[in-house]
Amino acid sequence: MLFIQFTGLSGAGKSTLSKGVAERLTTLGYRVEVLDGDRYRRHLWPELTFSAQDRQENIRRLGFIGQRLVHHGVIVILAAINPYKSVRDELAVLMPGSRLVFIDCALPTLQQRDTKGLYARALLPQAHADHITNLTGVNDPYDRPETPDLHIDTSTETREASEQRLLNALLTWLKTTSSDDVN
Ligand code: ADX
Repeated sequence: MLFIQFTGLSGAGKSTLSKGVAERLTTLGYRVEVLDGDRYRRHLWPELTFSAQDRQENIRRLGFIGQRLVHHGVIVILAAINPYKSVRDELAVLMPGSRLVFIDCALPTLQQRDTKGLYARALLPQAHADHITNLTGVNDPYDRPETPDLHIDTSTETREASEQRLLNALLTWLKTTSSDDVN
């Protein structure tokens, strides 16, 4: 079936969009699994931190699960920050028919939304007990994808418009992706 890698900063809309589109695809009769970084981390490997090494490990593990599900005819959306180009490329090699979707959002908008309070914490003085030092895009690296298959900017378009564009792209890719692409 089809493997979709999302990449984008925390709060950009990866979980919301993936859930919305998964529901619509399910209604159309497809089997879909969203490999949500937050959720899988919490349930399967809470010991992984946000160091570069652990983030890479997180994505590799999600990629492995995704590959197995795709093999059994499921559409898989990996919805994690997925900040490192090197690991995104690894998964793309592993799953040749896969696609990369950039869920982009301007930093001021993310700081304004700040649903989890992480951006406020990253901006606290270093000595503050709640200060965090490794928030992607603020004080931790993020490799912006240069040539994603789809670029969605949730700071400039509505949720409905983003969801529709994503669904349209997925339906197009589904037509052109053979199940032999991913082993
Ligand atoms: S990834 O970098 O390994 O791909 P993943 O998507 O699984 O990250 O998890 C990111 C989520 O963890 C964020 O949405 C946020 O809820 C939480 N989180 C906690 N601390 C951090 C941090 N320092 N940087 C990024 N996300 C964090």
